[in-house]
Formats: sequence, C-alpha cells, structure tokens
Amino acid sequence: MAKIAVLGYGTVGSGVVEVLETNKDSIKKRAGKEIEVKKVLDLRDFPGDPIQEKIVHDIKEIIEDEEIEVVVEVMGGVEPAFTFVKQALEAGKSVCTSNKALVAAHGAELLEIAKSKSLNFMFEASVGGGIPIIRPLNQSLTADEITKITGILNGTTNYILTKMSREGSDYDETLKEAQKLGYAERNPEADVEGFDACRKIAILTSLAYGSTVNFEDIRCEGISNITTVEFKYAEALGCAVKLLATSYRKDGKVYAITAPFMISNEHPLYNVNDVLNGIFINGNVIGNVMFFGAGAGKLPTASAVVADVVDCVKHKGKNVMTVWSSEKLSLGDADDEVWRFFARVKDEDDARVKVRDAFAEAKIVEIAETSGEFGIVTEAMSEAEFKAKTEGLNLINRLRIDDTQL
Ligand code: HSE
Repeated sequence: MAKIAVLGYGTVGSGVVEVLETNKDSIKKRAGKEIEVKKVLDLRDFPGDPIQEKIVHDIKEIIEDEEIEVVVEVMGGVEPAFTFVKQALEAGKSVCTSNKALVAAHGAELLEIAKSKSLNFMFEASVGGGIPIIRPLNQSLTADEITKITGILNGTTNYILTKMSREGSDYDETLKEAQKLGYAERNPEADVEGFDACRKIAILTSLAYGSTVNFEDIRCEGISNITTVEFKYAEALGCAVKLLATSYRKDGKVYAITAPFMISNEHPLYNVNDVLNGIFINGNVIGNVMFFGAGAGKLPTASAVVADVVDCVKHKGKNVMTVWSSEKLSLGDADDEVWRFFARVKDEDDARVKVRDAFAEAKIVEIAETSGEFGIVTEAMSEAEFKAKTEGLNLINRLRIDDTQL
C-alpha cells in the first residue's frame, strides 16, 4: 500500500480522490500496489463528505507523517504551495502537481531537490491538463532536437475565440458567457491577457532546451483587443484567430512568444476548438507530432496527476531524470522574429499609397462589413521591420500570421 496526501480539496483535488476511487483496481495493477489517500489539507471542512475524516488544517500533519510517500499539490498559486512542496521534498516525499505558476517559477529548483534525494517532482498536469505532453518531451522525444513547439494552451481563450468566430458575438459578451459557464474566472486576466499560456510555453521550452526560460522574458499579448471585425477579415482570408504560445530554435537561438495569431485552414491547430488544447511539436528526426485533448477540467487534469502518482510509486527511491537546469536560457530578441502580418489600416489621406511604398508585396483585403479601413497581409518580415514600415500608418490592430503546416 502506498499512502499519499492531497494539498487542496478543490476541483482538481476532489478529482484526484475520485479518479483513485473510480479506477482503484487498474491503478493498483499499474502501480504494483494500492494507492490510498491518507490525508487531505484544506482550510475548509467538508461535513458529510467521506473525505472529512481525512481533512487536516496543518501542513505539519502531512510533512511529519512518515507513512505518506507522495504529496499531491493542487492548491494553485506560488505561495504557500512552494513552501509546502519544498518541505515535502525535504522530508523525503515525492511531489506531483498541476500548478503551472509553481512549476514556471520554481521548476528547476524543485527538480534539483527531488534529484538530490532520489525522489521525484512531477508536473504532467501543469501544461495541457489531461494531455500527455511533459512525459513525451521528457521521455518519448529524447532522441530529437526540438525545433518548434506551437500550442493552443489555454482553454478559456480558445472557448472565447471559437465562440466569437462561430457566432459573431463580441468579446465582452462572450467573456461574460464563459464566466457564467465556469470556463473563465471572475478575474479573467491571467487567461485573457495570455499569462497562463505564457507560463505553460515557458515550462515546455525549459524542458525542450534543458534550461530555465523565465515567462516574464516572453513577449506576451492577450485576446482582449480582438473584435468581431478581426474575425470578418480572418474569414475572408480562410483563417482562424487563435491564441498561440510558441517557441522555436533558429540560427542557434531560441525564440518564444504568446499572442493571438491568424492561422490558415492548413495549420495543424486550425481545428482545435472550444475549450480544447492542442500542441504541435517539430523534432529534427521525428518530424511533426500533435497532441490534442482536454486542457483543463476536473477529471482530465486529475487523470494526469494520478498518472504522475503512479509513476512516483513505481519509481520509489529512484529519480526519473528530467533535464531542466536553473541556468537561465536567454531568448532571442523578440523584435527579430519573422512573420507575415495582418493589419487593419485606417483608410485616410494617402494610406494606400504609403502601404504600396512600404511593402513590396502587401495584399489588400476589403470586407463589406466595415468602412473607413482596409486590411493588409504583408510578406514575411521581422517585428522591427514591420514596426518601422507602419510608422506613418494609422493601424487599428495587427495580428501575426503563423505559417506552420503539417
Ligand atoms: N485557465 C486554464 C485554461 C486552466 O483555461 O486553460 C488550465 O490550466
């Protein structure tokens, strides 16, 4: 019997307890022994819930319990999660977490502590919810040099963009509906401003290249300035608008960005809709691989956490090596990144002449639904070049175009 503790009895924590109960027999076979939740840390009580007898309010009761060999951290946020996880590792317990804020901020350090004590720190659920992506990067794709990772890594924004595209609804109205359905938080900033996806691509990029990418160093733009008009242009161009979190290696440098992009219907992520997530990876020997599924939600996220618990139980006393050092990975200058750009331009003065002068091959896009503006699709150029070329133009908005194809 392996005894574990769960920190946080919220959506994911109760999901972990449920998954362990629902699939008790198959999990026992795969782990080689039964897994039992011995204690659950939460500030609240749950009278009437069978979990109540296992609830503790003091982390000490878990840290000092020598029978507990794995701690599941599903509280979210950096503190007190970081302190508790560190204490658990130092007390000889492996840790599994779904907490991307914790992993993005302290992943390398916690992996180092786990390694030094022949324990494990696992975080499959921190990116892509139930989608296996950490383990593939850490185990299945180790023969490859990763060339590119492009993901739709945030379900909330994918839901909002999909709905705006299908129904022609505006951003504020769609966000309100997403909040009503529980897909968006009351304070939606982390999702809609791209920070959540940015943390996730920082984690994947750190794993892909073996050193730490600070998410604060990644250029990050959200979806809050996307209007129904961008979708009309996208439709005319046969494109979708998606929040992409992407990183790639070019000329020996690693670049990363999180921003809304236009993608054509040949893009591998074009059909990743609603709350679903999709992650496209290119490796220098495997070529292209895609991962697709539920990027959030109680049971999909719990499935990934419990799989980590099984791995920890199977590898008791042995560290499963993860290459992610604390050394900082300096990203290439975001202004050097090269894309084609879509821009909405105010149709005033000699704007069309200026566009023709500045861009050798810009395609003009007109849509019936607007007046006083026109759209352009530029040839590929760096961010700095695009900025310089559009200086004398009155831009209403601009989106990058990602040309990844399978
Ligand atoms: N808010 C996140 C999302 C939850 O929408 O994807 C999963 O990390």
